[in-house]
Amino acid sequence: MSTIGYYDFRMPGAVRFGVNALQTLPDEIRQRKAAKIALISDKGVEGAGLVQKVIDLLQPLSIPMTVFTDIKGEPTFALLESTVRNLQREGCDLVVGIGGGSAMDVAKTTAALLDKSDLAAYLSGSAVIESRSVPCILLPTTSGTGAEVTMNAIFGDEEQELKRGLVSQMLLPDVAIIDPMLTVTCPAKVTAASGVDAFTHAIESYVAVRATPMTRMYAEKAMKLFPQHITRAVHHGSNLEARIGMCLVSNLAGISLANAGVGAVHALAYPLGGKYHIEHGVANALLMPYVFEVTGRTCTEQMVHVAKFLQLGDFEEQPHDALDAVVRYLYRLLGELDLPSSLKQLGVDEASLPVLAEQASRVDRLLSNTPYKLTYDKILSIYKKAYAGQ
Ligand SMILES: NC(=O)c1ccc[n+]([C@@H]2O[C@H](COP(=O)([O-])OP(=O)(O)OC[C@H]3O[C@@H](n4cnc5c(N)ncnc54)[C@H](O)[C@@H]3O)[C@@H](O)[C@H]2O)c1
Repeated sequence: MSTIGYYDFRMPGAVRFGVNALQTLPDEIRQRKAAKIALISDKGVEGAGLVQKVIDLLQPLSIPMTVFTDIKGEPTFALLESTVRNLQREGCDLVVGIGGGSAMDVAKTTAALLDKSDLAAYLSGSAVIESRSVPCILLPTTSGTGAEVTMNAIFGDEEQELKRGLVSQMLLPDVAIIDPMLTVTCPAKVTAASGVDAFTHAIESYVAVRATPMTRMYAEKAMKLFPQHITRAVHHGSNLEARIGMCLVSNLAGISLANAGVGAVHALAYPLGGKYHIEHGVANALLMPYVFEVTGRTCTEQMVHVAKFLQLGDFEEQPHDALDAVVRYLYRLLGELDLPSSLKQLGVDEASLPVLAEQASRVDRLLSNTPYKLTYDKILSIYKKAYAGQ
């Protein structure tokens, strides 16, 4: 009897990376013979002049365009639905999304849903998105969520006070254009939170149950580059070398996340986003050291590798010390990047911790991808520690 063992590895149709890569956007649109473009973004990105930059660049094409910049940070399913309905009325046949994870998640899901009438089934997750309605091109402006290369889109469910992911290959764009110039205006706080979010994608996907040799290769490179660029990108945002470095970290980590998935840090972050609207990157950055202190115990060998990637030392002889070194680094990072270091500081009510733990313990998709079985009690103890702070 033979057994079949295989893994898939998926990417967008094309990933274009480089300074001024934005200039190739008109060609991509021309090739797809679009009759009406939907340009999706948010007010912060518009305020930084990036939406106008795209409009000016596309103007010579003389293709009608609907510009939709009402996307809010950490978008909800209600916002997604109203965006799709609005753009269905406009009759757009190509979507361009420019922004951080919030704008890109709405853009890629809109591109998949534009020709569908029964939105409720898709938004509730009871129907899987099996086709994409129109072509989609994504341009990230944070580094980052990696949403331009993932099959996920994350939305807030206001009724259940939870964040939930839609997962489908149809959420991969045709083209991801990663131009570091688009991240230069990204504010320091967003750069810090989304930068550590990218690192969370790398480390969580590296130790993930579903990790493969290919995903580990991407995650490893992302972890090696991260310490070289994150501090300068946050504190010296106009430094192009640091911005290029962080775009690469985000992109590589995103590819690893897309194919190996993430784990418990994300599972515990979702309820904080759902109930307290704490930004995804901030929640991940804060929870990461507390979660790894517990879950890292079952992946000693990987922690030795991670410590090496981060240049924290060689722990081959004392493998059990590697986790301590990694966790200390993650705590230090919060201070260096001016990120919050306790849930209390973020305004979380201590009395809500059991509810948060109950919600997190139901995120099976991510907890089952973590190489440590986190029980409700363990999750609650992690939240309590994170509440009090280091
Ligand atoms: N789909 C995925 O695989 C995936 C992965 C991780 C996170 N996410 C989701 O992504 C969202 C968070 O995305 P994010 O961290 O990129 O932040 P964001 O998209 O919410 O943006 C944060 C703020 O930064 C501003 N901003 C972004 N780029 C800018 C620039 N270049 N110049 C000036 N202002 C700029 C925005 O206007 C916004 O106000 C969350 O909803 C999270 O759940 C999705």
